[in-house]
Amino acid sequence: MAKLMRLDKLLSEMSVGTRSEVKQMIKKGRITVDGVVVKKPEMKVDPDHVEITAEGRSISYAKEEYIMLHKPAGVVSATKDAKDKTVLDLITDSKRKDLFPVGRLDKDTEGLLLLTSDGELAHQLLSPKKHVDKTYYAKIRGIVDEEDVKKFAEGLDIGEESLTLPAKLVILDSNEESKIEVTIQEGKFHQIKRMFHAVGKEVVYLKRLSMGSLVLDETLEIGAYRPLSEEEIRNLKNR
Ligand code: URA
Repeated sequence: MAKLMRLDKLLSEMSVGTRSEVKQMIKKGRITVDGVVVKKPEMKVDPDHVEITAEGRSISYAKEEYIMLHKPAGVVSATKDAKDKTVLDLITDSKRKDLFPVGRLDKDTEGLLLLTSDGELAHQLLSPKKHVDKTYYAKIRGIVDEEDVKKFAEGLDIGEESLTLPAKLVILDSNEESKIEVTIQEGKFHQIKRMFHAVGKEVVYLKRLSMGSLVLDETLEIGAYRPLSEEEIRNLKNR
Protein backbone atom coordinates (compact mmCIF):
# COMPACT_ATOMS: atom_id res chain seq x y z
CA MET A 1 0.00 0.00 0.00
CA ALA A 2 1.24 3.48 -0.80
CA LYS A 3 2.73 5.32 2.15
CA LEU A 4 1.01 8.70 2.23
CA MET A 5 2.47 11.72 3.93
CA ARG A 6 1.45 15.30 4.56
CA LEU A 7 2.51 17.72 1.86
CA ASP A 8 3.99 20.25 4.32
CA LYS A 9 6.01 17.51 6.03
CA LEU A 10 7.38 16.23 2.74
CA LEU A 11 8.36 19.73 1.63
CA SER A 12 10.12 20.53 4.88
CA GLU A 13 11.95 17.17 4.87
CA MET A 14 13.22 18.06 1.42
CA SER A 15 14.55 21.31 2.88
CA VAL A 16 12.20 23.54 0.86
CA GLY A 17 11.71 25.49 4.10
CA THR A 18 10.75 25.06 7.72
CA ARG A 19 7.35 23.56 8.42
CA SER A 20 5.81 27.02 8.93
CA GLU A 21 7.57 28.48 5.88
CA VAL A 22 6.24 25.74 3.62
CA LYS A 23 2.75 26.13 5.08
CA GLN A 24 2.88 29.79 4.05
CA MET A 25 4.16 28.86 0.58
CA ILE A 26 1.28 26.41 0.15
CA LYS A 27 -1.30 28.97 1.29
CA LYS A 28 0.14 31.50 -1.15
CA GLY A 29 -0.36 29.06 -4.03
CA ARG A 30 3.35 28.50 -4.74
CA ILE A 31 3.17 24.72 -4.65
CA THR A 32 1.74 22.45 -7.32
CA VAL A 33 0.91 18.76 -6.99
CA ASP A 34 0.60 16.88 -10.28
CA GLY A 35 0.35 20.19 -12.09
CA VAL A 36 -2.40 21.68 -9.92
CA VAL A 37 -1.95 24.49 -7.41
CA VAL A 38 -2.86 23.21 -3.94
CA LYS A 39 -3.74 25.25 -0.88
CA LYS A 40 -3.91 22.61 1.86
CA PRO A 41 -0.74 21.88 3.87
CA GLU A 42 -2.40 18.78 5.34
CA MET A 43 -3.04 17.24 1.93
CA LYS A 44 -1.83 13.62 1.84
CA VAL A 45 0.42 12.63 -1.05
CA ASP A 46 2.24 9.50 -2.12
CA PRO A 47 5.87 10.71 -2.15
CA ASP A 48 6.98 8.04 -4.59
CA HIS A 49 4.38 8.83 -7.26
CA VAL A 50 3.66 12.51 -7.09
CA GLU A 51 5.08 15.42 -9.06
CA ILE A 52 5.57 18.46 -6.92
CA THR A 53 6.89 21.90 -7.74
CA ALA A 54 7.80 24.66 -5.30
CA GLU A 55 7.97 28.10 -6.90
CA GLY A 56 8.35 26.41 -10.27
CA ARG A 57 11.19 24.13 -9.11
CA SER A 58 10.64 20.39 -9.28
CA ILE A 59 10.99 18.62 -5.92
CA SER A 60 11.86 14.94 -5.85
CA TYR A 61 11.40 13.07 -2.63
CA ALA A 62 14.48 11.30 -1.33
CA LYS A 63 13.95 8.88 1.51
CA GLU A 64 16.14 9.02 4.61
CA GLU A 65 19.76 8.52 3.67
CA TYR A 66 22.25 6.24 5.40
CA ILE A 67 25.89 6.48 4.36
CA MET A 68 28.93 4.58 5.56
CA LEU A 69 32.08 6.68 5.32
CA HIS A 70 35.62 5.42 5.77
CA LYS A 71 36.69 8.57 7.53
CA PRO A 72 40.21 9.77 6.80
CA ALA A 73 42.37 11.57 9.35
CA GLY A 74 42.38 15.36 8.95
CA VAL A 75 38.64 16.00 8.64
CA VAL A 76 36.32 16.92 11.48
CA SER A 77 33.08 15.12 12.36
CA ALA A 78 30.82 18.12 11.95
CA THR A 79 28.40 19.51 9.40
CA LYS A 80 30.34 22.75 9.04
CA ASP A 81 33.52 24.22 10.38
CA ALA A 82 35.12 27.62 9.94
CA LYS A 83 38.63 26.25 9.52
CA ASP A 84 38.70 22.51 8.81
CA LYS A 85 37.28 20.29 6.11
CA THR A 86 34.30 18.32 7.44
CA VAL A 87 33.10 14.80 6.82
CA LEU A 88 30.11 16.30 4.98
CA ASP A 89 32.46 17.96 2.49
CA LEU A 90 33.44 14.45 1.42
CA ILE A 91 29.86 13.47 0.52
CA THR A 92 29.37 14.98 -2.89
CA ASP A 93 26.16 13.37 -4.15
CA SER A 94 23.74 13.37 -1.25
CA LYS A 95 20.06 13.88 -2.12
CA ARG A 96 19.26 15.24 1.31
CA LYS A 97 20.51 18.48 2.74
CA ASP A 98 20.06 17.37 6.34
CA LEU A 99 22.72 14.67 6.61
CA PHE A 100 24.79 14.66 9.78
CA PRO A 101 27.42 12.39 11.35
CA VAL A 102 26.19 9.99 14.04
CA GLY A 103 28.58 10.85 16.84
CA ARG A 104 32.09 12.12 16.54
CA LEU A 105 35.45 10.70 15.70
CA ASP A 106 38.46 12.88 16.53
CA LYS A 107 40.10 14.73 13.66
CA ASP A 108 43.01 12.29 13.67
CA THR A 109 40.83 9.15 13.97
CA GLU A 110 40.02 7.04 10.91
CA GLY A 111 37.39 4.46 10.20
CA LEU A 112 33.68 3.84 10.36
CA LEU A 113 31.42 6.87 10.46
CA LEU A 114 27.71 6.69 9.79
CA LEU A 115 26.06 9.73 8.23
CA THR A 116 22.31 9.92 8.08
CA SER A 117 19.28 12.19 7.95
CA ASP A 118 17.46 9.85 10.37
CA GLY A 119 17.43 11.62 13.72
CA GLU A 120 15.54 8.82 15.44
CA LEU A 121 18.15 6.20 14.52
CA ALA A 122 20.98 8.53 15.54
CA HIS A 123 19.33 9.01 18.91
CA GLN A 124 19.02 5.24 19.38
CA LEU A 125 22.69 4.72 18.59
CA LEU A 126 24.04 7.61 20.66
CA SER A 127 21.84 7.44 23.74
CA PRO A 128 24.09 6.67 26.75
CA LYS A 129 21.36 4.36 28.06
CA LYS A 130 21.58 2.07 25.04
CA HIS A 131 25.22 0.98 25.53
CA VAL A 132 25.91 0.48 21.83
CA ASP A 133 29.25 -1.32 21.39
CA LYS A 134 31.95 0.47 19.42
CA THR A 135 35.10 -1.42 18.46
CA TYR A 136 38.38 0.29 17.60
CA TYR A 137 41.75 -0.84 16.37
CA ALA A 138 44.64 1.13 17.83
CA LYS A 139 48.41 1.37 17.96
CA ILE A 140 49.68 2.21 21.40
CA ARG A 141 53.03 3.62 22.47
CA GLY A 142 54.09 1.27 25.27
CA ILE A 143 53.67 -2.38 26.15
CA VAL A 144 50.01 -3.28 26.65
CA ASP A 145 49.65 -6.24 29.00
CA GLU A 146 47.14 -8.42 30.83
CA GLU A 147 47.06 -5.94 33.71
CA ASP A 148 45.63 -3.37 31.27
CA VAL A 149 43.07 -5.91 30.03
CA LYS A 150 41.92 -6.32 33.64
CA LYS A 151 41.80 -2.58 34.30
CA PHE A 152 39.80 -1.92 31.11
CA ALA A 153 37.34 -4.67 32.15
CA GLU A 154 36.98 -3.22 35.65
CA GLY A 155 36.51 0.39 34.53
CA LEU A 156 38.94 3.31 34.58
CA ASP A 157 38.99 6.72 36.17
CA ILE A 158 39.24 9.16 33.26
CA GLY A 159 38.18 12.16 35.30
CA GLU A 160 34.43 11.69 34.90
CA GLU A 161 31.92 11.31 37.73
CA SER A 162 32.02 7.54 37.46
CA LEU A 163 34.43 4.92 36.13
CA THR A 164 34.17 3.90 32.49
CA LEU A 165 31.84 0.98 31.82
CA PRO A 166 33.56 -2.41 31.35
CA ALA A 167 35.55 -2.41 28.10
CA LYS A 168 36.97 -5.41 26.27
CA LEU A 169 40.64 -5.03 25.43
CA VAL A 170 42.23 -7.58 23.10
CA ILE A 171 46.01 -7.51 22.65
CA LEU A 172 47.03 -8.28 19.07
CA ASP A 173 50.72 -7.49 19.51
CA SER A 174 52.43 -6.44 22.73
CA ASN A 175 55.57 -4.45 22.00
CA GLU A 176 57.10 -0.99 22.31
CA GLU A 177 54.34 -0.11 19.89
CA SER A 178 51.45 -2.42 20.76
CA LYS A 179 48.47 -3.24 18.56
CA ILE A 180 45.11 -3.77 20.17
CA GLU A 181 41.36 -3.92 19.62
CA VAL A 182 39.08 -2.40 22.20
CA THR A 183 35.30 -2.40 22.55
CA ILE A 184 33.59 0.30 24.57
CA GLN A 185 29.91 0.81 25.37
CA GLU A 186 30.03 4.59 25.73
CA GLY A 187 31.19 7.49 23.61
CA LYS A 188 32.81 10.00 25.92
CA PHE A 189 35.00 12.74 24.45
CA HIS A 190 38.43 11.26 23.50
CA GLN A 191 37.42 8.16 25.43
CA ILE A 192 39.93 5.63 24.10
CA LYS A 193 42.80 8.11 24.32
CA ARG A 194 41.84 8.98 27.88
CA MET A 195 41.51 5.31 28.87
CA PHE A 196 45.04 4.57 27.68
CA HIS A 197 46.26 7.74 29.31
CA ALA A 198 44.78 6.43 32.57
CA VAL A 199 47.08 3.38 32.34
CA GLY A 200 50.10 5.50 31.39
CA LYS A 201 50.10 4.83 27.63
CA GLU A 202 49.48 6.82 24.49
CA VAL A 203 47.31 6.13 21.46
CA VAL A 204 49.32 6.86 18.32
CA TYR A 205 46.79 5.59 15.76
CA LEU A 206 43.06 5.00 16.10
CA LYS A 207 40.52 3.52 13.71
CA ARG A 208 36.88 2.62 14.37
CA LEU A 209 35.92 -0.81 13.06
CA SER A 210 32.28 -1.11 14.09
CA MET A 211 29.33 0.55 15.74
CA GLY A 212 26.57 -1.76 16.95
CA SER A 213 25.86 -4.19 14.13
CA LEU A 214 27.45 -1.94 11.50
CA VAL A 215 30.94 -3.03 10.45
CA LEU A 216 33.36 -0.97 8.38
CA ASP A 217 33.43 -2.26 4.81
CA GLU A 218 37.17 -2.74 4.32
CA THR A 219 36.76 -2.55 0.55
CA LEU A 220 36.03 1.16 1.02
CA GLU A 221 39.19 3.16 0.44
CA ILE A 222 40.00 5.77 3.06
CA GLY A 223 37.79 8.78 2.27
CA ALA A 224 35.31 6.70 0.23
CA TYR A 225 31.69 6.04 1.13
CA ARG A 226 28.69 4.01 0.10
CA PRO A 227 24.99 3.79 1.01
CA LEU A 228 24.09 1.23 3.66
CA SER A 229 22.36 -1.90 2.37
CA GLU A 230 18.74 -2.53 3.34
CA GLU A 231 19.99 -5.30 5.62
CA GLU A 232 22.49 -3.02 7.39
CA ILE A 233 19.75 -0.45 7.96
CA ARG A 234 17.34 -3.09 9.25
CA ASN A 235 19.93 -4.56 11.63
CA LEU A 236 20.82 -1.15 13.04
CA LYS A 237 17.15 -0.34 13.66
CA ASN A 238 16.34 -3.71 15.22
CA ARG A 239 19.08 -3.92 17.76
N1 URA B 1 38.01 7.61 21.37
C1 URA B 1 38.91 8.56 21.09
O1 URA B 1 39.79 8.87 21.87
N2 URA B 1 38.82 9.17 19.88
C2 URA B 1 37.89 8.87 18.96
O2 URA B 1 37.88 9.45 17.87
C3 URA B 1 36.95 7.88 19.29
C4 URA B 1 37.02 7.27 20.50
